[in-house]
Amino acid sequence: MTGKKAQLTVDGIAEPIELPVYEGTTGPAVIDVRSLTNNGFFTFDPGFMSTASCESKITYIDGDEGILLYRGYPIEQLAEKSDYLECCYLLLNGELPNTKQKEEFVKAIRYHTMVHEQIHYFFNGFPRHAHPMSIMVGVVGALSAFYHEALKIESEDHRKTAALRLIAKMPTIAAMCYKYSIGQPFLYPRNDLSFSANFLYMMFGTPCETYLPNPVLVDAMDKIFLLHADHEQNASTSTVRLAGSTGANPYACISSGITALWGPAHGGANEAVLKMLIEIGDESHIEKYITKAKDKDDPFRLMGFGHRVYKNFDPRAKVLRAACQNVLSELGLENDPLLKIAMKLEKIALEDQYFIDRSLYPNVDFYSGIILKAIGIPVNMFTVIFATGRTPGWVAHWNEMISYPFKIGRPRQLYTGATLRDYPG
Ligand code: SDX
Repeated sequence: MTGKKAQLTVDGIAEPIELPVYEGTTGPAVIDVRSLTNNGFFTFDPGFMSTASCESKITYIDGDEGILLYRGYPIEQLAEKSDYLECCYLLLNGELPNTKQKEEFVKAIRYHTMVHEQIHYFFNGFPRHAHPMSIMVGVVGALSAFYHEALKIESEDHRKTAALRLIAKMPTIAAMCYKYSIGQPFLYPRNDLSFSANFLYMMFGTPCETYLPNPVLVDAMDKIFLLHADHEQNASTSTVRLAGSTGANPYACISSGITALWGPAHGGANEAVLKMLIEIGDESHIEKYITKAKDKDDPFRLMGFGHRVYKNFDPRAKVLRAACQNVLSELGLENDPLLKIAMKLEKIALEDQYFIDRSLYPNVDFYSGIILKAIGIPVNMFTVIFATGRTPGWVAHWNEMISYPFKIGRPRQLYTGATLRDYPG
């Protein structure tokens, strides 16, 4: 805390209102407006464009510079030198693990990857054509039924076990969603495979033959999980924090995060990007879609472009752009028509004044879908992959909030409805 003050003068109030100013270790300082209610005011900030909802030490974003740090480490370095489970440990604990800590964490995750046998029966209630996200929301929320009695959120040990269970079981449930949709049997996780290799095994293996995933695809999958692991107070993470502030169990809170992530303006954008590229269909049609994206009367937006915080390239998009080309050349798909449309679309948009004026750059979702499609993951599974990758971030923020004294989140409003009136007659 800095001791600095802000002064707010309001017409009709004699004395200026003094408000404390706090500075973080980096990034914008904040003005503490909590005392404004004593003066009969609320702040007004629909969409929370300039509201810091909490103090956090987990992830830092500088949208102007295109910087993303997990516990201070640049995402580019982590993508190059670390792996997904190591980043999970980092996000949860604040420091990179030493060799022993990493071995113990990887082993602990490994021994939580199976789900209760009863969970298998949940799937039978869904139609085979159900969107996998609708199944994910239901099944993850239902994990509460198996654990919430044994869960005291004030216990650090209980919170740690819940964190391990959620990170470990998400890929198993994700793969089950896919297998259910294609009528193939669920595969049990294998303890001899790495986290991401195990996921691809559960997705594409069958009981009929040995399946070992392509190491290049395993690396790409791990990088996608890593790049999606956390992103500060985005809509789904804020949803998890709000749900957690009521004391709800972590499985219910993560299920609420999955629900929020589903929207096409958020985690549903990767699926929407692929559908957009398929709809564009040919490089010759790009100009038409750019025009649609700029037309205020047309609801069409260029999916995978723009970001509430990044007014520069999303650093994750840069890493994924390179990974995308590696994966496609490894698979002999460097002439993939969708990639060519994406690259041309990116070039045209970045040179277009409308996008330049609004600082609209490719975001994490623009390239991830092309990689996922190349790996063989169906489009309706893309947001399920995003949710799986984001789980450590959601859990880390939930745990950070619960670890300190917290109040239930309860915003107020600017009321413009009918004032007091009597019922007629
Ligand atoms: C994610 O918050 C996070 O951190 C999210 C995320 C994470 O890791 O958790 O990074 C993941 O959600 C990435 C974003 C994925 N969404 C998309 O790709 C969907 C397409 N993008 C847009 O819907 C939009 O850019 C948002 C929702 C991402 C951000 O919207 P904002 O910040 O509310 O900005 P806005 O809607 O007020 O747009 C500002 C202007 C508007 O034009 P004007 O009214 O000023 O004339 O830019 C225009 C918008 O019309 N605009 C776009 C556009 N995005 C914004 N125009 C065309 N195409 C777009 N994609």
